Amino acid sequence: MKLCMIGTGYVGLVSGVCFADLGNEVICVDKDKNKIDKLKKSIIPIYEPGLDELVKKNYKAGRLKFSTNLVESVQKSKIIFICVGTPTLRNKYEADLSQVFSAAKEISKNINSFKIIINKSTVPVMTGDLVEKIMSKNVKKSLFTIVSNPEFLREGDAIRDFIYPDRIVIGTSDRKANKLLRNLYLPLISKGAKYISTSRRAAELIKYASNAFLATKITFINELANLCEKLKINVEDVSIGMGTDKRIGGRFLRAGPAYGGSCFPKDTRAIVDTANKSKVSLSVIKTVINSNDNRSGILLKRVKKILNNKIKNKNITFLGVTFKANTDDMRESACLKMIPYLNKKGAKIRYYDPTGEKKEFIKFKNVQYKNTIKDACELSDLVIVHTEWNEFKLIDLKKIIKKKSFSVYDMRNIYSPEKMKKQNIKYFGVGR
Ligand SMILES: NC(=O)c1ccc[n+]([C@@H]2O[C@H](COP(=O)([O-])OP(=O)(O)OC[C@H]3O[C@@H](n4cnc5c(N)ncnc54)[C@H](O)[C@@H]3O)[C@@H](O)[C@H]2O)c1
Repeated sequence: MKLCMIGTGYVGLVSGVCFADLGNEVICVDKDKNKIDKLKKSIIPIYEPGLDELVKKNYKAGRLKFSTNLVESVQKSKIIFICVGTPTLRNKYEADLSQVFSAAKEISKNINSFKIIINKSTVPVMTGDLVEKIMSKNVKKSLFTIVSNPEFLREGDAIRDFIYPDRIVIGTSDRKANKLLRNLYLPLISKGAKYISTSRRAAELIKYASNAFLATKITFINELANLCEKLKINVEDVSIGMGTDKRIGGRFLRAGPAYGGSCFPKDTRAIVDTANKSKVSLSVIKTVINSNDNRSGILLKRVKKILNNKIKNKNITFLGVTFKANTDDMRESACLKMIPYLNKKGAKIRYYDPTGEKKEFIKFKNVQYKNTIKDACELSDLVIVHTEWNEFKLIDLKKIIKKKSFSVYDMRNIYSPEKMKKQNIKYFGVGR
């Protein structure tokens, strides 16, 4: 099938490449010329394990093309996926849909034959209706149909998640479009993915409800971790004890820093905004947002306690600064609150991240990126493990840190407290 992905970011690029790998002809379009130029040279603009090889393979085979020309790409394709960003509007809870609407407008002006237009971006309920309205201004209704097909992939596991999804959600009342999309996804359905066919509005809500629920699970265990710290209980034991109950499930039940990334924060806010507009109070989700907003403050309080309230001139190392491991995505990472705060209090921060230096910290005088774990840690008074990259798991801190005495604040509980104790390292985990 001939597909066009509008927006070649984490979702558009990964799903476009995977569709191409399934044998479809895919054009990935982006208005960012620099991104497209890089992709044409097989330089991948994001960090995503396995993406490099898959792009090269499918680009070479001619199934995958990159373009900045939306008009030509739309005209050549039958199925158009809108995969543009839907961030939160500044100082609001509402989703900013300007990228979706402007993509819809551009498509509507350039339709030359029947198209299935799919919202893969995460969009509030009734955005499909609004996109339909925009399209109708320039195109006859018989020339297009608008479908919702939310994406559930996780950065860091995106290819695996796309190829082996738990479910594929298709929101449409158009039978022909439904049949065609079922065929498009057939290779994944035959591997066990559940195909859920529903109304467009339900599909839109399923995505937000899923993310809000996962954010709630994380926040729930984060709050329990606070209690565990007071009661000298290991939260890991509680997670296992709870998570083995199939009704609960162990995933997204690991205590750590505030959840971040490009989805949970904005999607919890957007679903609350949708509910507010319908005069319904989603009080659980509101509380989750509030609790998560306070999470970094709680962890920073612990940092202060570990350093006996003396932050000034302390050497603090962050291992991993992205919102989680296996991605280069800094959007709403808890580090964006913690590092500036500690820097303001006079700490000297060094950080290492496997995905390299981050532009977000360049303006800070006493925040330095180091190319190796050793360089980042050797002068440390306190090492903060912020993400759980595999390469952090077996570090011999005693060997690389020159100071006689130092502390470790393991925000992901990747180290064994017993082993740390044996090595005489002052060790602090989360909820234990
Ligand atoms: N990142 C994730 O893990 C993830 C997972 C599931 C769903 N989503 C949702 O998918 C959507 C996209 O997220 P993302 O992380 O891929 O965003 P992103 O910011 O990485 O990529 C969006 C891309 O769209 C491009 N773009 C914007 N308007 C355009 C236009 N008119 N024409 C061509 N290109 C245009 C931008 O230049 C950018 O490269 C969001 O709604 C997000 O919530 C994201």
